Amino acid sequence: MAVIKVCLGSSCYVRGNDKTLALIDDYIQKNRKEHSLELIGCRCSDACQDGPNVFIDNKKYSKLTPEELLKILEEL
Ligand code: FES
Repeated sequence: MAVIKVCLGSSCYVRGNDKTLALIDDYIQKNRKEHSLELIGCRCSDACQDGPNVFIDNKKYSKLTPEELLKILEEL
C-alpha cells in the first residue's frame, strides 16, 4: 500500500495543499483505491520554502500541479 502524506502545515496548506488533499481524497473515492492508497496529513517538515509538499512513500514532491499529481497517482 502506498502512503501519501499531505503536509498540512500552515505554509503548505495556504499555498494549495487544501486543494491537494481534496483532490487525492476524491481520486481515492472515485477510483475505489481505499485498499491501495493511504492518505494521511502530516505536520510541517521544515521544507516550507519548497512547498506545498506531498510525500509519497517518503519521497518528497513539491509544487505539483493537479495534472502532475493525478499522473503520479495513476502510476502507483
Ligand atoms: S508547512 Fe509544509 S513543510 Fe512547512
